[in-house]
Amino acid sequence: MRICVFTAVLLGVVCMVSRPQGKHVMRILTFCQANVTDAEYDMEFDGDELFYVNPYNLSVVQRLPEFAQQWRPDPGLPSTVYEAVDTCKYNIPNCIVGEQYPPEVIEPPTSLVYTQREVEMGVPNTLICFVTDFHPTPVNVSWSKGEEPVREGVSETQYYSNDDFSFCLFSYLSFTPQEGDMYSCSVEHRGLEQPLTRLWEVGMQTDPEAAETVVCVGGLTVGMLGVAAGIFLIIKANKHS
Ligand SMILES: *[C@@H]1O[C@H](CO)[C@@H](O)[C@H](O)[C@H]1NC(C)=O
Ligand SMILES: *[C@@H]1O[C@H](CO)[C@@H](O)[C@H](O)[C@H]1NC(C)=O
Ligand SMILES: *[C@@H]1O[C@H](CO)[C@@H](O)[C@H](O)[C@H]1NC(C)=O
Repeated sequence: MRICVFTAVLLGVVCMVSRPQGKHVMRILTFCQANVTDAEYDMEFDGDELFYVNPYNLSVVQRLPEFAQQWRPDPGLPSTVYEAVDTCKYNIPNCIVGEQYPPEVIEPPTSLVYTQREVEMGVPNTLICFVTDFHPTPVNVSWSKGEEPVREGVSETQYYSNDDFSFCLFSYLSFTPQEGDMYSCSVEHRGLEQPLTRLWEVGMQTDPEAAETVVCVGGLTVGMLGVAAGIFLIIKANKHS
């Protein structure tokens, strides 16, 4: 059986602004998949997501409070997003034909579990499961405490795009560390034969700063590679033309 899910990042706009203190990158991303309702639109600045637009009800969700203070969504943004997502969906079948039915790119995810803050017994904290380098979406992320599934206190980001157009996502679990507790983050993806499960134990040696550094360096590299490669991937596609 041929399963054709084809992810396309149709519009990737990278702008650089030269400033005395260095270069900055702004990226506007639209993605959609053939025959899948899943779609996204977001704007990133130097690797941080400033906002995303929910593609179903077109509501704008700002992520960085600092930025939100400086910026109000353009009233035309929802219609821009509507058009971008629509254009993306319209073009995928044409791209597939144009590229002569390329094989699907299926990359299984890797994951990393770490805490938001340094662990202190009895002090509320957040476990973060960072799932990355997968393609296409979706992944299912679930948490367990010991053997018991945990659904309360769980939230996750939407999908972010890496520089190579693979995806990443963060899942969060609010918890209070107690001696001996063990948590795990399980990830399901089409590219995995069985769920990828990562354990995290209270009292286990973890260094949140080291994990953060990995993630931040990753983010920075994403930005830098984007600049270096000069990804000016502007596919002008408009179904009305
Ligand atoms: C999407 O669905 C249509 C009709 O169900 C089918 O003809 C087409 O091959 C599918 N395309 C992909 C990429 O799966
Ligand atoms: C849009 O949908 C999201 C989740 O699907 C919901 O949280 C949000 O409140 C909705 N916004 C509006 C304006 O309806
Ligand atoms: C994710 O979970 C849903 C609902 O349980 C399931 O239908 C889907 O196949 C799962 N996806 C993956 C990639 O495992």
